[in-house]
Parts: sequence; C-alpha cells; structure tokens
Amino acid sequence: MKEEKDIILKVEDLHKSYNGAEILKGITFEVKRGETKVIIGPSGTGKSTLLMCINRLVEPDSGRIYLEGDEVLSSKNIHKIRQEIGFVFQHFNLFDHLTVLENVRIGLTKVKKIEKSQATEIALKELERVGLKDKSDLYPAQLSGGQKQRVAIARSLAMNPKLILFDEPTSALDPELIGEVLNVMIDLAKSGMTMVCVTHEMGFARAVADEIIFMEKGVIVEKGPPELMFKNPQKDRTKEFLNKLSQLYGKDENTMSFFEIVGSSWVYMVEGIWVTLFLTLISIVIGFFLGVLLAVSKTYGNKLFYYISYVFIEIIRGTPLLVQLFILYYSLPVIGIRLSPILASIMAFSLNSAAYQAEYLRGAIQSISSGQMQAALSIGMKKWQAIRLIILPQALRRFIPSWTNEFIYLLKYSSLSYIVGAPEIMAQAKFVASRNFEFFQVYLFAAIIYFVLVTIFGEIFRFIEKKIKIPGTLTYARNRI
Ligand SMILES: Nc1ncnc2c1ncn2[C@@H]1O[C@H](COP(=O)(O)OP(=O)(O)OP(=O)(O)O)[C@@H](O)[C@H]1O
Ligand SMILES: [Mg+2]
Repeated sequence: MKEEKDIILKVEDLHKSYNGAEILKGITFEVKRGETKVIIGPSGTGKSTLLMCINRLVEPDSGRIYLEGDEVLSSKNIHKIRQEIGFVFQHFNLFDHLTVLENVRIGLTKVKKIEKSQATEIALKELERVGLKDKSDLYPAQLSGGQKQRVAIARSLAMNPKLILFDEPTSALDPELIGEVLNVMIDLAKSGMTMVCVTHEMGFARAVADEIIFMEKGVIVEKGPPELMFKNPQKDRTKEFLNKLSQLYGKDENTMSFFEIVGSSWVYMVEGIWVTLFLTLISIVIGFFLGVLLAVSKTYGNKLFYYISYVFIEIIRGTPLLVQLFILYYSLPVIGIRLSPILASIMAFSLNSAAYQAEYLRGAIQSISSGQMQAALSIGMKKWQAIRLIILPQALRRFIPSWTNEFIYLLKYSSLSYIVGAPEIMAQAKFVASRNFEFFQVYLFAAIIYFVLVTIFGEIFRFIEKKIKIPGTLTYARNRI
C-alpha cells in the first residue's frame, strides 16, 4: 500500500453548477504517484468539467482539491499550480502561430524563465519522446491529428508536471491515428507518470489503468481495477454502459477469441493485403525488366556495362534491404527528394529485386549450351538478335522457378515497409493490436494471411512453369543468399 505522502491529487466533495443545474454533485477520489486513472461515462456527465475544476480552468462552487497536500482552491498562485498539472485537450489546442518546437518551448522560456538554449534542449528531448523531433520546424497546420496530439503531450511534459489530465485525447482523431497517441500514453504511464484520463479506449484502460472510475450525472457510480470492472461490475448501470462501449469499440475482456479478432479486424487486414500485393507485384515487374537489362549487360555488354552492372549488383547484395529502404525514405529528403512511403518502398524493393533477378537470370543464361549461340550466329544472326531470339527465350523459361522464389521472398519482405509507414499487412496488424492489445492473436492472423498468399501464388507460378516449360529440358533454380 502506498503511503499518504504518495497521494498526488485528492479531490473531496467537489460541487459545480451551471445556471442552477448541478453538474458535479460531490465528487471524491484520490490519485497516488505513478497511478493512471481512467474516467468513463456518458456524454454530458461532467467529466470535462471535473478535469477543468482540478486546475481551475473552471472554478468549482465548493469542495477541496489538494495537490501534494497543498490546497488548490484557496491558492493565491494558481499559475504556479497549473504549471504542475499538465492538460491535454480533445482538440489539441496547439498555438497555431508557433512552430512545433516553439509550442513546446514557450512555457519554458516565458513561464519558467528558462534560458532559450536550455529550453530548446528540453523541448527537443520531449519531442523525441513522442517521436516528433524531426517535425520541430513545422507549424501545427502541417501536422496530422495524431501528430498534433503528440505535440500537445510534449508541451505538457516539457513543464515537468506532477500529473497530466487527458480529456478524451483520441476522440477527435481518425481511427488510424489513434494507435500512435495511445502508444505514447502507454509509454508515459509505464514510465511512472501520474495520469488522469477521460477516455473510452478500453484497450488502453486494460493495458495501464490502475482504476476505472465510472461517472454519471455528476456522481461517481462505481470504481475499481479494470479486471474487476470489466468482468464483474457491481452496479447494473456500469454493466449496461460497459456493454454499450464494447459494442462501439469492440469487446474488451481478456477473452476475445481468435475468431472474434478475425471478425473485428478483417476489414483493416484486407486493406493491408491490397497494399502488400500492390507493392510486391509492381516491384517484381520493375525488378524483372531492370534485372534483364543488368544480366544482359553483365554477360554480353562491353567493359563499361559490365562494371556498372557488377558494382550495382554487389552494392545491393552487400547491404540489407532495410538499410536501402531507410536511405531512400529518410536520407533522400536531405538532398530535397521526399518520397511517399509507398513510392520509397517500391523503389527499394524494385532495385533490390533487380539485383537478385539479374543474377538468377545470368545463371540461367550461362546454363544454356554455347552451341546455341554458335548455331544462331552460324545462320547469319547478329549477336543481339541471337540473344533476343534464341538465348533469352530459353533462359527466361529456366528462370521461372527462381522467379517464384523471388516473388515469395518479396511478398514476405515487403512487410518491412511498415517501418516507413506504408499501410501493408504488418502496419495494419500493428494498428489493430494497438487498439485491442491482442498482439499474439492479431500477429497470428497476419501470419496466416501471409501463408495463404504465399501458397496461392506459389501454386499459380508452378502452374505457369509447367505450361511454358519446353518438354525434355531442365529448369534452373537459385535461391537468395
Ligand atoms: N460553460 C458552461 N456553461 C453552461 N453549461 C455547461 C458549461 N460547460 C458544461 N456545461 C454543461 O455541463 C454538463 C457537463 O458537461 P461536460 O462537458 O463536463 O460533460 P462531459 O461528461 O465531458 O461530456 P462529453 O462526454 O460530451 O465530453 C453538460 O450538460 C454541459 O452542457
Ligand atoms: Mg467532455
């Protein structure tokens, strides 16, 4: 049990009326150091009013609030107290005329009177914590909703508050942006920050809440640890409200079966499948044409062509695909070229695949007997004609099995592109899991999808291989090394 001195916030018998209507009817609760409390309840219940009373953005009518034992309501210096209580709003409320860095820094320089260079350092550290250091120079209007909210969180964190109040921080966000904000909040909670969150994201509550407080019509109806509240709420009204929530946000108990996961996430996963297939198909086709060029240059070209293809192939094969993707996505902007995640992925996968396809094809070309070339030349064909009409048609047929392997390889490794933000299968799985916290089951679902895709395409290519094979000849297969 934590001691009395560990109580950061104590709210006692708080009342507030607007125009004669009582909104808060005697609210009492306390928050210990490092705790995360989640407040839920129907609209108009007074949740926002309660949070705003705590830092006196709204003046309560009666009651007591203590911040580490100090009276908040009778305090003469409310500005000092507000510095110690962070507030994150539903609609972000960033200062639109300031850059991201300035938004986070202004409280440090103007309120805490910290010297500018030191304030910049603190601000950048907090921006790094929410993953937005590289957006420091942008203005709020240039950010997505999820990024805005993460800046708002950094702005609160920079003031080094004793606790942070969150008022529905994700409810104004598009569904695909909710996960990134929740992940920042989960990291904060796990790092020991004291938090009071009004939110209906029950996956978040289940992951980090120490207590869930259910409020309705200005009173606390019931409170308890998440396991108890989800599995066995005492009051019928709580049960009813949680049921309604689970219809809206998906089932929240720890008992979601694999089929329920599939049922609630397949729409997102199918979106991911299209992106994955699109990336793979485009990349393998571009990689094929580039690969043929490289293989032919390396086998039949002059010295210059030979060395260009040789160096390109060796560089690509000697560096990890992930590094190639990072260079295209994160390093090209340094010289002013900014690619979208999909375009960067297609370029990285095409170039990578071209190098491998070139080598497989070269192997296939070399496996064709030299007599074929001699015979072609002997009937008067030019060298390029012989390559095009006699050598390549045979080599390409022998190349099909390695091409099948290459396709399967790319299909699986295109999952790397989630790292730069392309919404393929893995990115979608991560998004779904950040909502329902069923990581194992969601990733199992993703693995099954990959397996099914690989099997289907494997069979299709085997069929094609059989169709175009020249009777009595061998095929040639080489695998990635
Ligand atoms: N400044 C105000 N003047 C008059 N009435 C107000 C004011 N602010 C809030 N109210 C009323 O107080 C009640 C509680 O509002 P509050 O915003 O705290 O609810 P809430 O639980 O946060 O709801 P929601 O889930 O919709 O955000 C509502 O009926 C609202 O109309
Ligand atoms: Mg509200």
